[in-house]
Amino acid sequence: MLLYERLANQLRTQIAQGSLRAGERLPSIRQLAHSHGVSIATAVQACLELEREGLAQARPRSGYFVRAATPPLPATRPTRRRTPGTVSNPMLQDVLDMLARSDLLPLHSATPSSALLPQAALTASLSRCLRHTPGAALDYAPPQGHLTLRRLIAQRYAQVGVTVSPEEIVITAGAMEAISLALRTLTQAGDVVLVESPTYHGILQAVAALKLKVLEVPNLPDRGIDVARLEQLLQQNTVRAAVLVPNFNNPLGSLTSDHDKQALLKSCARHKTVVIEDDIYGELAWSGQRPSPLRRWDRHGNVITCGSYSKILAPGLRVGWLVGSDWTDALLRTKYFSTVGSASLPQLALADYLQRHDLQRHLRQLCRALADNAQRMHQAVAHDWPASTRACTPRGGLSLWLQLPGMNAQALFDAALREGIGTAPGTLFSSRGEYTDCLRLSCGLPWSKALDHALRRLGQLAAKHVA
Ligand SMILES: Cc1ncc(COP(=O)(O)O)c(C=O)c1O
Repeated sequence: MLLYERLANQLRTQIAQGSLRAGERLPSIRQLAHSHGVSIATAVQACLELEREGLAQARPRSGYFVRAATPPLPATRPTRRRTPGTVSNPMLQDVLDMLARSDLLPLHSATPSSALLPQAALTASLSRCLRHTPGAALDYAPPQGHLTLRRLIAQRYAQVGVTVSPEEIVITAGAMEAISLALRTLTQAGDVVLVESPTYHGILQAVAALKLKVLEVPNLPDRGIDVARLEQLLQQNTVRAAVLVPNFNNPLGSLTSDHDKQALLKSCARHKTVVIEDDIYGELAWSGQRPSPLRRWDRHGNVITCGSYSKILAPGLRVGWLVGSDWTDALLRTKYFSTVGSASLPQLALADYLQRHDLQRHLRQLCRALADNAQRMHQAVAHDWPASTRACTPRGGLSLWLQLPGMNAQALFDAALREGIGTAPGTLFSSRGEYTDCLRLSCGLPWSKALDHALRRLGQLAAKHVA
């Protein structure tokens, strides 16, 4: 047995016997190396091994922590939709009603709480722009968006090893508009579009609004996009575009590996399927290691990457973007005739904020807080929910996906709503109302007594609504 395996084994035993308990910090790498007489590299390797097994979790600058005794992963069911069909999910309508309510504990909303976002700094940036450049702030912005902001976005991509020119960036009203512009530019009613199952309900709504047909490729909790199935579907159907969320899919939080990302790009290029990459959660890797967007390996100009500040700085500013590749001019025309351009003030304020503050530092703090919240929520679910509950163990993003076999998540949703708790039932995330026994909760709320109480109450309600 190799040295690191021996050390990992000892730590595993300590966890199993309870001498290292869920939520506790493992000894630091330095301490481990010293006390076991091994090198730093060996101690790191042992911790990485435990992380890979889901027993430990790295938190940026804090070290490794024992993960909560989490329930097993949700059962993955290959989706039943084998031929293109339309989106028909009446629950999608209920989302709009729920989003309008401000009286709920917002476990339904995949957004970081305002307490985790730099509100004071952003407010200062907004007033500075109004004071110093009222002309620009209140005038039309260029249709493509302010160049300063586009440059900053391109610089951020460069920091993570991805080359993007400010000339191919178009500023949009969030990632949602970016996705919708891409679909409107590329497709005509009746075209077939590939989406993941489960996937973000906004994508399904955009597809439905344009009268497109969908094919669904499974997204698996532990692996992300099922690339073998994707290749099969593309062989059997003419698919115009694929809207994919490889980095921390909403609702699963799953991550598609670099290897599978490259494989899916090859498949899509071979079958002339344009990829609309929704990378809205790419910056929210809880380990601090930002996974690469698909764009990094795109050799064919076949990927439109959509991003947003909604999940990392301020959803209400409604600033996102797309990296249009060869489609930039066409996308820009679609943007122009739909909204002329995006609002000027939010773009200038975000540029001001990004020039004055260390985004990376903010992201580290945010990711640490989200990882903590998710860990505590997992613990609460393991403790308070029926024993057959299964949960995903995401490594980033804002979602916690739970499955309780036999549960009627729609009934749970209604019951929770009556008690002032918002949830997102699984059916929302499928084009035909599948995942009836699943639920997505947001892990964007800092831990509090109210949250603890709500999770316990949801566990009781879930138990009541099992057939
Ligand atoms: C996967 C995904 N894409 C896009 C969006 C919409 O983002 P934005 O607020 O930037 O429009 C969301 C919001 O929850 C999302 O989860």
